[in-house]
Amino acid sequence: MRRGAMALALPLVFALAGCSRVPEATVEAPAPRPEAVMDFHALYSANCQACHGANGHGGPAMELGNPEYQALVDDATLRKWISGGMPGTEMPAFAQSAGGMLTDTQIGAIIAGMRKEWAKPNAFGGATPPAYAQDQAGDVKRGQATYQARCASCHQNSAREQVTSVVYLSLVSDQALRTIIVAGRVDIGQPDWRLATGKGVAGPLSGQDVTDIATYLGSLRNPAAVSAAPIPNPAGR
Ligand code: HEC
Ligand code: HEC
Repeated sequence: MRRGAMALALPLVFALAGCSRVPEATVEAPAPRPEAVMDFHALYSANCQACHGANGHGGPAMELGNPEYQALVDDATLRKWISGGMPGTEMPAFAQSAGGMLTDTQIGAIIAGMRKEWAKPNAFGGATPPAYAQDQAGDVKRGQATYQARCASCHQNSAREQVTSVVYLSLVSDQALRTIIVAGRVDIGQPDWRLATGKGVAGPLSGQDVTDIATYLGSLRNPAAVSAAPIPNPAGR
């Protein structure tokens, strides 16, 4: 983007200076070799934006620009998913060692750029969220009951994402579900693990609650049944 604006501005300077012929080199600067690109914005817009949204918001896949997400996940985990892809989802592997197009240094530049642009101090306002990774066994029955009590009121609405549908669940991993439940997605109106608070409403979800819900949703998954179904937009947009 910025480079494009520069390329447009340069001929204008020459025109104002009364120069009738613009030297070729200033109009079409040779594109840098793909492995040489280190700018976060250039890397993100070329490789990530289509799925994760402009500036990390509003895409079909996880809102990477949510400060709560940035606070929840450590560098090693980011590198693991970006390098190797996220099994069970549409997240591709980007590391050259895994058949992708990016060097390890470029992946480091993306991680550093996300932190710089999207991480915020005290993203949880002093609260302690459930762990990013599942750290205990889940219970399907309990998960179903918790889902009915805490999630169904919003997700019964047929316009909303049918998160219990096999088609949706076949596109997301248990970790992806867990990430969404804990960090939330401000961009599409999915609350974080604290859910709604108010009169007669139970408190924040515990780590066990999150694990149970993800285990319940995972138990509904049956990829064989949907292999022939059209792929929907995961965020319903
Ligand atoms: C073809 C679409 C697509 C592209 C391109 C893509 N992603 Fe993803 N990504 C996904 C999907 C789908 C998930 C699974 C989670 C979800 O559905 O929200 C995911 C998950 C992730 C996760 C893990 C989220 C978690 O639960 O912790 C990270 C980190 C991530 N992507 C970063 C990136 C980065 C950085 C790029 C660019 C280098 C990128 N992705 C490009 C689709 C994509
Ligand atoms: C206050 C209402 C509300 C509650 C409570 C709620 N959700 Fe959502 N959820 C939303 C909205 C709004 C969206 C995004 C729009 C849509 O899906 O149509 C969403 C989207 C999602 C998505 C899809 C995200 C994506 O990337 O496409 C998942 C998964 C999800 N919710 C799971 C849950 C679970 C599990 C619970 C219970 C722990 C829950 N939600 C509770 C409102 C809610």
